[in-house]
Amino acid sequence: MSRRILLLAGSSRADSQSAKVAHYLAGRLQALGASAEVLDLGATPLPLWPAEQPCLAWQTMAEHLRTAEALVVISPEWQGMASPALKNLFVYAGRAELAHKPALLVGVSAGQGGAYPLSELRASSYKNCRICFIPEQLIVRQVEQVLNAAQAADEADERIRSRADWALQVLLHYAEALQGLAGKIEWRFASGM
Ligand SMILES: Cc1cc2nc3c(=O)[nH]c(=O)nc-3n(C[C@H](O)[C@H](O)[C@H](O)COP(=O)(O)O)c2cc1C
Repeated sequence: MSRRILLLAGSSRADSQSAKVAHYLAGRLQALGASAEVLDLGATPLPLWPAEQPCLAWQTMAEHLRTAEALVVISPEWQGMASPALKNLFVYAGRAELAHKPALLVGVSAGQGGAYPLSELRASSYKNCRICFIPEQLIVRQVEQVLNAAQAADEADERIRSRADWALQVLLHYAEALQGLAGKIEWRFASGM
C-alpha cells in the first residue's frame, strides 16, 4: 500500500532552500512508491501562536497533518537554531495530528552547519505531541550546490542523494511498522513527563 508522507518545509522564507530540499525528497518518495505532499511554511505560513480563532490556516494544515502516516521535518539552521516557523507549528500541533507517527529530521545549511536544528528538535517539540523522530537523520550541507538538477552535479551531490534515498527507505519501513499505532494507544496524560 502507498504510504502517505507529509514533508514540512520549515523555512519561513519564500523560495527557500528548505523547500527545494522538500520537493526533491518528495520526488524521491514518489519514486519509492509512496504518496508525498509538501507543506511549505514559507508559502503558506502559520500566524504566530496564539492566532485569532478560528484560524483557517491552522485548520487546513491540521487536516493535512492528521491524514499523514509519516513525516519529513525539514529545518534550516538559522543562528545555530531550528527555524521559528517550525517551532511555532509545534505549539499548534498536538496528539490529534502527530501522535506516534514516525518522522525523519532533515537539517539544511548553506555552509557546514545543519546539526543544531536537529538536536534542538530532538530535545524539544516531541514531548506533548508524541511525534516519533527516528534515529536516522539527514543533513544537507552546502545546500545551494546540491539537489538542483535531475542528475547529480558532483561527488558530494551524489553522496547526499544516495544517503537521502536510504534514509527515506528507512522512514518508509518505520511507517509500515508503526501503522495504526496511534489507534492502539489509550489517550491518557496530555503532557509527556
Ligand atoms: C538569519 C540567518 C541565519 C543563519 N544562520 C546560520 C547558521 O547558524 N548556521 C548555518 O549553517 N547556516 C546559517 N544560515 C544559512 C542558512 O543555512 C541558509 O540560508 C540555507 O539556505 C537555509 O535557509 P532557507 O531554507 O531559508 O533557504 C543562516 C541564514 C540566515 C538568513
